[in-house]
Amino acid sequence: NICKKEGKERMEQEKRGQFGTNFGFLMAAIGSAIGLGNIWGFPYKMGANGGFIFLIIYLALVSFVGFSVMLGELALGRKYGMGVVGTYRKISEKYTWIGWLGWLSGFLILAFYSVLGGFTIRYCFGFLMEIFSAGAGFGGMDSGAFFGSFTTNAPMSILFHAIFMGATIIIVMGGISGGIEKFTTVAMPALFIMMLIVVIRSVTLEGAFVGLEFMFKPDLEALKEIGLMRVLKTAAGQMFFSLSLGMGCMITYGSYLSKNENLEKNAMIIPIADTCFATLSALAVLPAVGAFMYQGVEGVSFGAGPGLLFVTLHRVFSVGMGGFMGNFFGALFYFLVFIAAVTSSISLLEVCTAYFIDKRVGKGLEPDRKKITLIVGLTIFFLGFPVAMDGLGAGVAGGAMIDIPATLFGMKEVRVAFDCWLDFYDMISEGVFMPLGAMLMSLLIGWKLKTTLIKEEVEATPGYQMRAYNFWDICFKFVVPAVMLLVLLGQLDDFFGLGIF
Ligand code: PFF
Repeated sequence: NICKKEGKERMEQEKRGQFGTNFGFLMAAIGSAIGLGNIWGFPYKMGANGGFIFLIIYLALVSFVGFSVMLGELALGRKYGMGVVGTYRKISEKYTWIGWLGWLSGFLILAFYSVLGGFTIRYCFGFLMEIFSAGAGFGGMDSGAFFGSFTTNAPMSILFHAIFMGATIIIVMGGISGGIEKFTTVAMPALFIMMLIVVIRSVTLEGAFVGLEFMFKPDLEALKEIGLMRVLKTAAGQMFFSLSLGMGCMITYGSYLSKNENLEKNAMIIPIADTCFATLSALAVLPAVGAFMYQGVEGVSFGAGPGLLFVTLHRVFSVGMGGFMGNFFGALFYFLVFIAAVTSSISLLEVCTAYFIDKRVGKGLEPDRKKITLIVGLTIFFLGFPVAMDGLGAGVAGGAMIDIPATLFGMKEVRVAFDCWLDFYDMISEGVFMPLGAMLMSLLIGWKLKTTLIKEEVEATPGYQMRAYNFWDICFKFVVPAVMLLVLLGQLDDFFGLGIF
């Protein structure tokens, strides 16, 4: 009977697919981690939250929280051989809902991530066109005016959202080794080289030191003003999103990993690579912005949010650098951001499709990956429409200011209003579901299933013995739940204005 069960499991695994090599797995997982969160979120959050001190706090969080949650997710995925919903269901029927939180997060994040990914294609395309004829790419418009006109042009936003989602769907249709692994094995090394070129250009600009100072100067004043707890919360939230943790993405990727690969080592490599890349991104973005502030280019500042990635940097390339070089680096930079975003979006789509594939395989059917990927991808594409159509809160297409409880329940006292749909999707997923998911997972591992379960899975690799059991045990039991609780309270505080921090 045991033989029969093992045979069935092996057949199911074959149908689900697997990474061909550990390098391929690493490229896919690092590709998932490196994305808009690194290139966009990290630089400005670091600059605005105490610079060097933020970096130190971030590194401490990666060491005490990031590594262990990564290990926990990879181990659970590989042990149970299923996507996020299936994994929690296999642990116990009563935990299935935790899996659904992750699944839903993937669904919501991809809906807005793809709209932003579409923007990067538009900007890359714009700079390419500018190379051939001035004004062809951005209609001779100033960067701020262009951003406004593009984001409020719903059909355009939807068109580029469609192109981005189309690329994501095609790669995921190719399967684990034939699609995701194949693409990321080429894309990730290329991404790294492109990033190095942009960093070298950025830090050698006249006045780059202004940006470097903004980044690396320990800013105690800012820390005092913002408050340590808030900085800690910002760093922790950023880390989770950046490492693709808390929503079962690494559970899903772990389920395609062979027993021969070393989980403990992989769980360290992915966060280290992601953090190095985030630092590189900051070195690409902030010195360029600082340089042109120094040179007195109007309208360039260390602002935050979509403005930094699309308005400020557009101006850095078009007005600051200008000419052929500006267009060339502009096209290269936005292409790089596009690649980084696609290697993340494919992991988000995989989280969502894996559920249906697992279900079919469990019934002994063929996985039908292509059809499932297409249907799930199209559904997410439509879910992105409100995000693409409300002009990021500019008040078009009836979007901006969604007063959820007030509209739904007629509650006038506790009002939660969002500037735009992107904020709303983000608040549910990144703000609540992800920290909650990570907290529940670590509590489950630390107290219910026990860390020995993770040890067993790590040691399922022939001849390998777990190195840091006590460290992981303390992290799962105490450190991760405490930090996640802090993030969760901080997010709720932000969104609902509770005034805790
Ligand atoms: N880690 C990605 C980024 O930094 O942009 C975003 C992301 C991808 C979050 C995949 C979650 C996920 F499952």
